[in-house]
Amino acid sequence: MKVTVVGAGAVGASCAEYIAIKNFASEVVLLDIKDGFAEGKAMDLMQTASLNGFDTRIVGTTNEYSKTAGSDICVITSGIPRKPGMTREELIGINAGIVKEVASNLEKHSPDMVLIVVSNPMDTMTYLAHKATGLPKNRIIGMGGALDSARFKYRLAEALDAPISDVDGMVIGGHSDTGMVPLTRLATRNSVPVSQFMSQDRLQQVMEDTKVGGATLTKLLGTSAWYAPGAAVSSLVQAIACDQKKMFPCSVMLEGEYDMNDICIGVPVLLGKNGIEKIVEIELNAEEKAHMKESAEGVRKTNDLLEV
Ligand code: 2OP
Repeated sequence: MKVTVVGAGAVGASCAEYIAIKNFASEVVLLDIKDGFAEGKAMDLMQTASLNGFDTRIVGTTNEYSKTAGSDICVITSGIPRKPGMTREELIGINAGIVKEVASNLEKHSPDMVLIVVSNPMDTMTYLAHKATGLPKNRIIGMGGALDSARFKYRLAEALDAPISDVDGMVIGGHSDTGMVPLTRLATRNSVPVSQFMSQDRLQQVMEDTKVGGATLTKLLGTSAWYAPGAAVSSLVQAIACDQKKMFPCSVMLEGEYDMNDICIGVPVLLGKNGIEKIVEIELNAEEKAHMKESAEGVRKTNDLLEV
């Protein structure tokens, strides 16, 4: 199992690290345009192998796509991250050009890959990857919902004063401060609806804190987060590599599902060796449907800025 991660910045390096630590891939290629940067990160990470107990070989390269040839899964993290006060949508000008070029370079060398897009604005960059490559729709996946759901579970556990493993919940919709739709109605503590343990006001606060999860960290760190994004990507990569058929909310091209067409937005899917094995249509109530509709309008507005 060969995995390529493009972009050796904080998110890309974290992806490579978590993938290696989970020890299911034989090789991870880390590629960056900055001279020697990916090689350095790869060497540093390889020097953790004996300490962290993994056998995955991590190889760094400065923009040599031939080294990525034959990858089963490729991850695009390249582009600029947010600075405090910026929205993900404001990154489109620079990141669209980068994502387009990276996606077609990867496709040239790994035509059978499953592609995971992380660069922001992620839903629009995933849509762009569909337009810029000839990959089938089951092999292009945007990573946002898995991260947003992890942040939702963190906030739920905090509000419940419970261990995270007691908590389950999912965030669908666009990966943006206003577009996320945390499904509070379906969130549970050990299969009991969380609404039985907290007031509607507290649940509303959990929802708001989840939606600005990335912005809160960007303000604290001066740049966007990397540990949780890297861990979330590694979970998607593992589900595909190990054919787990595990359910994650991911940004995928919809063709009629959830009454939407020609848009990539977060909905639950099953991930396995073919990438998206199935789009799971869950019953949403009127309020959730309205939030999804509003979220989709936001994503479409950003998509309209693309020159494809
Ligand atoms: C985040 O939410 C990087 O979009 C990513 O932290």
